[in-house]
Amino acid sequence: MHLKQLSLINFKNYSDISLEFSEKINCFVGNNGYGKTNILDALHYLSFCKSFFNSIDSQNIKHNEGFFVVQGIYNKNGEQSEVYCGQKRNQKKVFKRNKKEYDRLSEHIGLFPLVMISPGDSELINGSSDGRRRFIDGIISQYDKVYLEKLIAYNQVLKQRNALLKQFHESRSFDSITLEIWDEQLILHGKSILQTRNDFLKEFIPLFNKHYSNISESEEEVNLNYESSIGERDYKTAVLTSLERDRIVQYTTVGPHKDDMEFIINGFSLKKFASQGQQKSYLLALKLAQFEFIKSKKNTKPLLLLDDVYDKLDENRFKKLIELVSSDNFGQVFITDTHPERIRDLFSFSTIDKKIFLVENGSVKLCN
Ligand SMILES: Nc1ncnc2c1ncn2[C@@H]1O[C@H](COP(=O)(O)OP(=O)(O)O)[C@@H](O)[C@H]1O
Ligand SMILES: [Mg+2]
Repeated sequence: MHLKQLSLINFKNYSDISLEFSEKINCFVGNNGYGKTNILDALHYLSFCKSFFNSIDSQNIKHNEGFFVVQGIYNKNGEQSEVYCGQKRNQKKVFKRNKKEYDRLSEHIGLFPLVMISPGDSELINGSSDGRRRFIDGIISQYDKVYLEKLIAYNQVLKQRNALLKQFHESRSFDSITLEIWDEQLILHGKSILQTRNDFLKEFIPLFNKHYSNISESEEEVNLNYESSIGERDYKTAVLTSLERDRIVQYTTVGPHKDDMEFIINGFSLKKFASQGQQKSYLLALKLAQFEFIKSKKNTKPLLLLDDVYDKLDENRFKKLIELVSSDNFGQVFITDTHPERIRDLFSFSTIDKKIFLVENGSVKLCN
């Protein structure tokens, strides 16, 4: 699978551009703030119907304009697909494939799998549990439609249950029958989400270890400890015993939406005890394992986006990574870098199919 063509109208700092890509390596070089990451974000839109960075769609419309359009033409197993995303100010986002609008955006997720490696990944270690849940959910959702539907349903029930708890509090009332109806749904979807996450981790962790030892060239063992707010308890018991607390704080305090994942290296917390170098290798291994996992589940190579990865690695590791992603195990790759000569040097002896684009404020020129 690869993206043949991308067109942007009024997307972030671009007025109107159209690009034809290489099936293998595509590099965007240019100074900071010129719009390299914005192009990767447009690719993220086409795969996930949303920005990697900004969840408020209208803020991705170019300043002082009324709408944006992001459009891509993919080639998947010899078949061409056109993906369209349009956003007008104060209107609902329109998302189409082959000119047909989706009823639900979830139908699109996973059709054009993509993995992004970005400087923001360090948030996985240092940020809140929300990002770590999104990491797991994001992977599973790309290959398991049922999981994605459950997740959406769970979040809807959760919203209703929390609204009800708030209402009880405000009206100083309590209605156990209505609550029980929501609890039943909550438990049903919650249980299944937990099960799927656990099954996923069992398969994912060995792959993660393989990538970690490749990158770090070490024998260290890495692990992901799922920390469940339900714990060893029966799900229903956990919900019932938390009710008193839930009523006081007016939201649901147990369930997969509160769970976390601890990053472990050699039995110890990565965040607390690991060196910067170990943390970088850890994140990179997580992402490469994500790539391989989705690739095997979908039987297609996801697009790989490498945003300013040079900043995260030393020169040797950067070279090694580029060699790795140039191999046949990977498909189409998009790389951003601030140094054109670094990118040219890197590929100077290679005959690999590539395009280098020079990005200048709002314009993109092919330069190889
Ligand atoms: N909605 C928007 N309208 C116009 N410009 C925008 C919008 N959102 C972001 N930008 C601009 O995009 C630029 C940042 O682009 P980015 O792709 O992050 O640069 P880099 O080349 O460093 O990756 C900034 O100059 C920012 O002002
Ligand atoms: Mg950038």
